[in-house]
Amino acid sequence: MCGIVAYVGSKQCANLMLEGLKRLEYRGYDSAGIATIDQGKITVVKTVGRVANLEDKLEQVGGIRGSIGMCHTRWATHGGVTDPNAHPHTDDKSGICLIHNGIIENYVALKTYLEEKGHKFKSQTDTEVLAMLIGELYDGDLEAAVQAALREVTGAYGIVVMCEKEPDTLVAARKGSPLMVGVGDGEFVIASDGSAIIAHTSHAFTLEDYQVVKVTPKGFRTSTIHNVPVTPKVQQLEIELEQIELGSFSHFMQKEIFEQPKALRNTLRGRTDAREGKIVLGGVSNFAKQLTATRRIVLTGQGTALHAATIGEYLIEDLARIYSVAEYGSEFRYRNPIIEENTLVIAVSQSGETADTLAALIEAKERGALALGVVNVVGSSIARETDAGVYLRVGPEIGVASTKAFTGQVAVLTLLGLYLARRRHMSGDECSDLIRELEQIPDKMERILEHDAKVRKVTEKYVDRENWLFLGRGYNYPTALEGALKLKEISYIHAEGMPAAEMKHGPIALINDGMPAVFIANKGRQYEKVISNIQEVKSRGGRIIAVATEGDEHIKKMADDVFYIPDVPECLSPMLAVVPLQLMAYHAAVIRGHDVDKPRNLAKSVTVE
Ligand code: M6R
Repeated sequence: MCGIVAYVGSKQCANLMLEGLKRLEYRGYDSAGIATIDQGKITVVKTVGRVANLEDKLEQVGGIRGSIGMCHTRWATHGGVTDPNAHPHTDDKSGICLIHNGIIENYVALKTYLEEKGHKFKSQTDTEVLAMLIGELYDGDLEAAVQAALREVTGAYGIVVMCEKEPDTLVAARKGSPLMVGVGDGEFVIASDGSAIIAHTSHAFTLEDYQVVKVTPKGFRTSTIHNVPVTPKVQQLEIELEQIELGSFSHFMQKEIFEQPKALRNTLRGRTDAREGKIVLGGVSNFAKQLTATRRIVLTGQGTALHAATIGEYLIEDLARIYSVAEYGSEFRYRNPIIEENTLVIAVSQSGETADTLAALIEAKERGALALGVVNVVGSSIARETDAGVYLRVGPEIGVASTKAFTGQVAVLTLLGLYLARRRHMSGDECSDLIRELEQIPDKMERILEHDAKVRKVTEKYVDRENWLFLGRGYNYPTALEGALKLKEISYIHAEGMPAAEMKHGPIALINDGMPAVFIANKGRQYEKVISNIQEVKSRGGRIIAVATEGDEHIKKMADDVFYIPDVPECLSPMLAVVPLQLMAYHAAVIRGHDVDKPRNLAKSVTVE
């Protein structure tokens, strides 16, 4: 995905837009570009690399002027990471300039049509095709040209367009890729999310799919791509600057790991009633009857969200006794899935914009499933597409490696599991006991975080090893997957996560002298079996790093290093067991000198399939 910021008003806007763009850099950081209109002329400056590279380039050219403009940070899809492929893109006929997040699927056909009309392209992108198409259709009315062009387009887009011939007008539109319009006093900021808007105004509205907005310093007009007027709902942005700033931390990932206790308290607040043994989920209450009648649950997501969904699968099946399965959205969507009566699909996503998850959700809905969202970003595409849902409430997650969203997702799925269990067979007393344990998770997490320095020391011992295993069973098999994903995505160390029992069916051949194997070996139903797996690795020269329950002295005899977590019911243990793994991945990346918050080739959310 890409980051978009655009401004129209009375201020010189280049620096103001770049400040916003830095806040969106997590969305993509292959290349960056900016354009303004000054005295009726568009100037574009763009470069591969980060926003900082763009600032350097701007300094070399003496800056750019203008009180209307747009800027963009790119995560490449069509065409390599080169200056010509960076946004903004311009046309060759009508003075059009455009930035885009998404993919124009029919760009080849459109490009052929435009080439036949004599247009010459400078990039390999689908975005330049859209700029040319708008230019081709322009007849003195930018808004009308954008609407007409978008009627020809298939795919996903969040775009902002300006035109030299209408030097005080921005036109923006959305289908599938988020776009917000911040409404100030005589000025407007259009951006991919509110974090780039909040420094200027706290009032904003979200564009809906197939909507177009025309903005000038005097006001705005919203319509559909068929030019039917619509009235957007201007709302208060629910972001505080403090939430999107680093404060005393070195990286957002570190900040977000340490924020988890606070974030989880927010997730749980007002949703548990330990005295009554009751879970209160306002977001799903209208569907209580249907939820009780659920016979099968499909949880879907990608990456970290899928790992949380897999814990949800174990939890819901165990607590509520409903057949549950977690599946990659990307696989579920294309394999002609069976959706029987009373099937519930739960889409799990931090951003709420992940294309694979969204597509799976839409597919399941079309086949008659009831759809719930377990989403962090309020008003995101998945949140809007679902029938009902429970927000994570963990605050903005900026680090590309997901941490607090993971524990938030697991906490929400625990609440859902208890909610369903209570409506079926679980006694009030049993539910009360689990709620009390759940409510203590944030405090127990704090105790784990106190041992950060020890985690760093242990990480230093193994950080040069290029192959790691992460092993767990039952509830902590997905935690092992998550530990491996965290390590590989930010430290670029090869790590595999798997059920501990699976190791002996092949992967055991990988174990050589000194290979780190991280075992989640907390007390639980399969503890003895995990201990046997530890012995199997140890006897082949592997080095054992164990996550164990406080008080387990026995494990010290087998493990080279142990991270202790407080004792909790097994079903709640992933929220604690993952914390040392997150810290270890973080320290490994820092020690190896990587850009923790912006790992190579990644973007915070993947809005293409
Ligand atoms: O926004 P989502 O939760 O839907 O994102 C899903 C994955 O792309 C995401 O979890 C990804 O795997 C992260 N890089 C993990 O840290």
